[in-house]
Amino acid sequence: MKVMIVGGGGREHAILEKLRVNPRVETIYALPGNGGMRAHAECVPIAATDIGGIVSFALERGVDFAVVAPDDPLIQGACDRLRAAGIRCFGPSAAAAEIEGSKSFAKSLMKRYGIPTAAYELFDNANDAYAYLAKASYPTVVKADGPALGKGVIIAQNEEEAKDAVRSMMEDGVFGASGSRVVIEEFLTGNEASVLAFTDGKTLVPMVSALDHKRAQDGDLGLNTGGMGALAPNPYYTPELAIECRERIFLPTMRAMNAEGRAFKGCLYFGLMLTQDGPKVIEYNCRFGDPETQVVLPLLETDLLEIMLAVEEERLSEVRVRFRPGAACCVVMASQGYPAKYDTGYEISLGGAPETENVFVYQAGTKWNDGRLVTSGGRVLGVTAVAKTPREAQRAAYDAVRQVRFDNAFYRRDIGERALADTAEGKAERHGL
Ligand code: AMP
Ligand code: GLY
Repeated sequence: MKVMIVGGGGREHAILEKLRVNPRVETIYALPGNGGMRAHAECVPIAATDIGGIVSFALERGVDFAVVAPDDPLIQGACDRLRAAGIRCFGPSAAAAEIEGSKSFAKSLMKRYGIPTAAYELFDNANDAYAYLAKASYPTVVKADGPALGKGVIIAQNEEEAKDAVRSMMEDGVFGASGSRVVIEEFLTGNEASVLAFTDGKTLVPMVSALDHKRAQDGDLGLNTGGMGALAPNPYYTPELAIECRERIFLPTMRAMNAEGRAFKGCLYFGLMLTQDGPKVIEYNCRFGDPETQVVLPLLETDLLEIMLAVEEERLSEVRVRFRPGAACCVVMASQGYPAKYDTGYEISLGGAPETENVFVYQAGTKWNDGRLVTSGGRVLGVTAVAKTPREAQRAAYDAVRQVRFDNAFYRRDIGERALADTAEGKAERHGL
């Protein structure tokens, strides 16, 4: 089979590493791919958002199956266009991807179907939003309705900050059309969990849970990023919570999308806040998370391509999806300055970072330049280790990080730390159990 992966981040590298082990796969194309994916895929310089280019390439090369990983092409209908051209693929239709593409759609879906989420109001007009903010309680959360490269969520500590956020989105148009509507919602407190699920609209199979680390700096300080590291399973996500989420959130969401005529096929990502009043949805994504995928897929035992084909053919119920016991930790090595301004072009030495069965360096913002591997983006590498326990996975990931060198590298030193300290496993460790 000829397989095509659309995207070029650490997530796509992790997907590639799973797809390439299927014996039916002869060729993998990555559009555009990255410096690491090149080892096992033919990287083609077509942007993930160039949907016309993607479809023509797939037809030209006789691609049998496409995996569309990033949000933008999914929201813009890449899977609809591929399917219309007769190419099978993994990923939701544009109508289903709206669950990520429009926060107002996601919020009203949850309201209509009784799925727990933060209380909210929707505004099309800045003056109405200001009037509401004068009476709101703080902190409060201001969100651009449409996609905003992960930057469209502002947690405002007071009315002034909230008004600034509304002004920049609605009046200054910093996110373009995405900010012409805003959602203002209740600030939730609790621990976060990311749960990715395979679904074909009939069956939904949650994957092992993950804990992302969104802030740039240690101690959850600094700017919001795409994600600076992840741990799986999420130590806060107990088996009881998994049952509650399945019954109150995951299955109701799948059914709600069916009832709306927008059956979701692909990977549905639940961003959850585990509050005192139970789990609530913070956001849905219509795709695999990054860096969650880099800790979830290494624990997947079942063949990923077989799962993806079953999703496309709506026979997921026939596949037994298994995860191995144990844990995985991913530490993202980024360019100094990310998520704001940063320089690129620095040579990367993977040194002795021993890529063993249990340690893997997923590449993201990397490329080859005159025979040298150099940095080319904000998030550069996702150094990942798998081990028996989360603590061992964390230690092994940091051991590997210390072998990697590039100028201007920065990474968080506390991936998984707070969760391990807070939970039974960490406590047992302190008592030498
Ligand atoms: P998002 O871009 O929707 O993933 O939001 C980014 C981050 O903002 C989330 O991971 C949360 O940490 C935080 N956040 C979003 N919505 C809320 C909320 N209603 N209450 C508290 N924190 C939130
Ligand atoms: N790590 C969060 C996301 O993929 O949206």
